[in-house]
Amino acid sequence: MPEINNIDVYFTQQSVQEEALRGKTAVVIDVLRATTTITTALSNGARQIIPVEDMSEASRMIHSFDSDQYLLCGEKDGKKIDGYALGNSPLEYTEDTIGGKTIIFTTTNGTKAIKKTSIALNTYIASFVNMEAVTQKLFAHDNEIVLVCSGWKGRISFEDSLLAGALIHSLGNGILPKNAKDGAKVAFGLYQKYGKDIASEVKQSDHAKRLKGFVSEEEIEYCCDVDKFSVVPSFADGIITT
Ligand code: MLT
Repeated sequence: MPEINNIDVYFTQQSVQEEALRGKTAVVIDVLRATTTITTALSNGARQIIPVEDMSEASRMIHSFDSDQYLLCGEKDGKKIDGYALGNSPLEYTEDTIGGKTIIFTTTNGTKAIKKTSIALNTYIASFVNMEAVTQKLFAHDNEIVLVCSGWKGRISFEDSLLAGALIHSLGNGILPKNAKDGAKVAFGLYQKYGKDIASEVKQSDHAKRLKGFVSEEEIEYCCDVDKFSVVPSFADGIITT
């Protein structure tokens, strides 16, 4: 098994020093729910996803497409934006709804985290639903790996940090890689403590509680369904494709 040595974690998108990603492989994580939704959409046949910073950028972006080619999608504070075709529930992104479409996508933290990695040599999109596929992809890289958790408005998110730890666990076959930075050690320890029943632990997270009332328990469980998909979305030149 290839050896992964240099690995680090940012726990919020606000803490990312963009220049520090130059020449590295970035992996963006937003378990609840942006990176789970992106993985689902591309697995179900979306043509491409264009992550945008906010609604103004989304409104400008739509002029580049014919109206039958794109869907304007996303959330603000977890809730679907008025007038948008879809929100940020992965369950909405069925083949019938999004097959062949370009998704113009804005979310509170996840799409901002993705855009912050533009300078990285490679950027992959990770979620529990494609964890093993991402792990295998990362084995092909011998440069430093930086896991970028989206978090929530500058605060740490348990579920993103847990997936970061799970990826490190999987990359090191259960052993903390040599030269793991402090962030990687913290995430690895978190996964060792809480990784046995991911869905039950994630249901207790701050963001799961925030979503309660308008997001079903079934949807949280979906976001914790390990290795449901084998696609690894990658972000380059402003576009996410497989
Ligand atoms: C985000 O980007 O902050 C999240 O994906 C929010 C959500 O759960 O919709």
